[in-house]
Amino acid sequence: MSTYTAEDKRKVTTHRLIEMKQRGEKISMLTAYDYSMAKLIDEAGMDVILVGDSASNVMAGNVTTLPMTLDQMIYHGKSVMKAVNRALVVVDMPFGTYQGNPLEAFSSAVRIMKETHADCVKLEGGAEIRESIEKILCAGIPVMGHLGLTPQSINKFGTYAVRAKEKAEAEKLINDAHMLQEIGCFALVLEKIPAALAKQVADELTIPVIGIGAGGGVDGQVLVMHDMLGINMGFSPRFLRRYASIGSTIIEAVGNYINDVKSGDFPNEKEQY
Ligand code: KIV
Repeated sequence: MSTYTAEDKRKVTTHRLIEMKQRGEKISMLTAYDYSMAKLIDEAGMDVILVGDSASNVMAGNVTTLPMTLDQMIYHGKSVMKAVNRALVVVDMPFGTYQGNPLEAFSSAVRIMKETHADCVKLEGGAEIRESIEKILCAGIPVMGHLGLTPQSINKFGTYAVRAKEKAEAEKLINDAHMLQEIGCFALVLEKIPAALAKQVADELTIPVIGIGAGGGVDGQVLVMHDMLGINMGFSPRFLRRYASIGSTIIEAVGNYINDVKSGDFPNEKEQY
């Protein structure tokens, strides 16, 4: 097995992610929702691009992820897929399209795969949606699980605070993680849980465990692109590291453009026909 670096232009596959875990190579994952950003993120060498239902917050301006529809996720998935050559692309199944029954889950996942050409889907939850996940897996569609803070359940949780701090919830999470691996999920996202618990799960599972707010003991990290690039300027939880201040850069650039238009400085003689 050769090392899989960001310079390696071969397409990332679910199988390759499992090899990366076996070799102890960390997996990078970031969200994208549109063609232009997905192209840049793929060119940078990202391993996995998540077309997250966080599009509901950062693209559509909703307070939660719940309003996102299957058609909207397919629109974002298609846009991203046109740009990506290397990264594995995962599309989130939106709230209400898989929890009802396995057949509904199956047809939602099939629509995502047929219409976006993405590589796989992600679903939030454990034992409660086991049959839905199994039905999707039966169709040969790879599934990434998502446990811990699952934003589609925010109305049940009532808060975005750290999950699984209590023994009973931690035990259920460990059981769910093992179940997801046993039924055939190829990877798992753990969101906002204690670092020690996330490490325990990553150590016990053979499939890659990708964390967000779950510490450094897991097999990879995922962030929401608008948060880490500083586009979403008002959101600064403890787990977030900002790699740029694009929001301030945009406000400054747009302000300069406004001033140049108002003053008549733009366009000049060279900027006209
Ligand atoms: O929708 C999303 O962006 C996600 C990540 C937070 C993992 O599910």
